[in-house]
Amino acid sequence: LIGLPPPPSPPIISKHIDLHEIISHGQYGHVWKALYENKLVAVKMMLPSEKDSWETERKIYSNYILHHENILNFHAAEKRLENNYIQYWIITEFHQHGSLTDFLTFNIIDLKTLINLSLSIANGLTYLHENMKKPSIAHRDFKSRNVLVKDNFTCCISDFGSSFAFDDNADKEKAKFQVGTKRYMAPEVLEGAIAFRTEAFLCIDIYALGLVLWEILSRCGETQAPIGNYQAPYENIVGLHPSISDMVECVCERKLRPIILPEWTEHPILKEFCETIEECWEMEADARLSAWCVYERLVEQARNLEN
Ligand code: ADE
Repeated sequence: LIGLPPPPSPPIISKHIDLHEIISHGQYGHVWKALYENKLVAVKMMLPSEKDSWETERKIYSNYILHHENILNFHAAEKRLENNYIQYWIITEFHQHGSLTDFLTFNIIDLKTLINLSLSIANGLTYLHENMKKPSIAHRDFKSRNVLVKDNFTCCISDFGSSFAFDDNADKEKAKFQVGTKRYMAPEVLEGAIAFRTEAFLCIDIYALGLVLWEILSRCGETQAPIGNYQAPYENIVGLHPSISDMVECVCERKLRPIILPEWTEHPILKEFCETIEECWEMEADARLSAWCVYERLVEQARNLEN
């Protein structure tokens, strides 16, 4: 019996995209500004070595339909054959101000902007962590580079390539590997001592949130506090390329945290902001605030600011 030839595999149809310019680089590959279906978009092109992270981000976006004003809007995830090798693409909304790190590097901000940026980040993280509309999701690489600034000076959270969703069949053992950016790793991650509960993973994001809120505060021109060039958290102690052991020594052994200036604690609103930051980066994971609690406090501060 002569079998029929196998049907041709369906062609991969890639919609046309006009790549404009590279807007950021990283170890993962780079991000392009581009035109796609008549919209300005950002295209994260990931190296083949980042396939797992592409797959994770693709699944997080397609399984849970993340739809929130403080979560980066997703358009598509594609595998494209370029020059004979596979490229992994994540296509999202484009934001012209770029990352929060870039924004803080080039701008000094007022009190209202400080609260707006912070409140929107806490709102995005609250949505990610909540488990009523979807499973709880831990970001696991939360940092100012993974936050984008929108035109209205609120933020959205991006980069879900290391994220972990606590759905019914989640294998928490898999979530225990040390992931994230060394500078932003919580003490328990640095020491490899993460507890086994979902909340423990969310607390790791909150520690990093504390550092990001400090970065925002360090660029606020509301007080007489001196403002130099933008510095990453702990940059004055561990420099630009810290190793895990540099971070262990700084964060766990010497128990250091970024400096809180006296000028900030003498200001009625910034004083409370500093207290919130300190309750986010507590050594004990259980003692940290929830994203929801940070959000509520900031809503209250925004109200006080209006009155
Ligand atoms: N850098 C990384 N992702 C970006 C995006 N979506 N928009 C603008 N700049 C970015």
